[in-house]
Amino acid sequence: MTATPALPSGSSNNARPVTVPDFLAAKAHGKRLAVLTAYDYTMARLLDAAGVDAVLVGDSVGMVVQGGTNCLAVTLEEMIYHTRLAARGVRRALLISDMPFMSFQVSAQQALENAGRLVKEGSAQAVKLEGGVRTAPAIEAVVGADIPVMGHIGLTPQSVHRLGGFRVQRDEAELMEDAQAVEQAGAFALVLECVPAELARKITSLMRIPTIGIGAGAGCDGQVLVTHDILGLFDELRPKFVKRYADVGQAIAKAVAGYCQDVRAGTFPAAEHEFR
Ligand code: KIV
Repeated sequence: MTATPALPSGSSNNARPVTVPDFLAAKAHGKRLAVLTAYDYTMARLLDAAGVDAVLVGDSVGMVVQGGTNCLAVTLEEMIYHTRLAARGVRRALLISDMPFMSFQVSAQQALENAGRLVKEGSAQAVKLEGGVRTAPAIEAVVGADIPVMGHIGLTPQSVHRLGGFRVQRDEAELMEDAQAVEQAGAFALVLECVPAELARKITSLMRIPTIGIGAGAGCDGQVLVTHDILGLFDELRPKFVKRYADVGQAIAKAVAGYCQDVRAGTFPAAEHEFR
């Protein structure tokens, strides 16, 4: 086991922590917000040091870490566990935890109790709930206990069976109503997933809270992506909206092949790796 890696130079770890009011101020000042996902200490620490505004412990963990075909099987206990791991790596970014399928749909009371667990046991600073009009009572209950909520409308992956797949959502009247319901319920930010760019721009212009787009174009107040996608660590799905910034999957494959070769050839360990 090697020591924890040194943080990259330019680390923003000493900067003032990002807060919920900072998200609202960013909207007011036209400052775009950068959000990425992490599910463990190592990745959260790297993202935080590189300067993301928020780390989202997404229920996408069910696909890119657990290998599921969707996120529906992820449990609250698993989200608490992954949030706790990520929290240990975050110094500056806002830590947001996803409420998984069936952890908030039953009742506003259920949502409040489970959001409380993500904060108390996982150290989340905010939670994210999918859904608009239908979810508004749950959002209101959670916000009423001073737990900040990020909303999520458009393509909501927990509704994959009703939607018939991971599809772009285009119903303007429904999306407008959902966005307004989330804002009125007290959310501090709203994820717009797979919404046509012009519609996302329109929603963004009508809202006081920042919109965070994923597949919703450049008119949003910020962007979120799954880190495994931008680093080339997960390529079973390649959505059009993902930009790949590195091919870490290839780098890992090359490194591991080199290790196997060295071990089999007897060239690792070398003298410098031995204790005398
Ligand atoms: O689960 C997740 O990672 C998400 C984001 C990609 C918005 O919900």
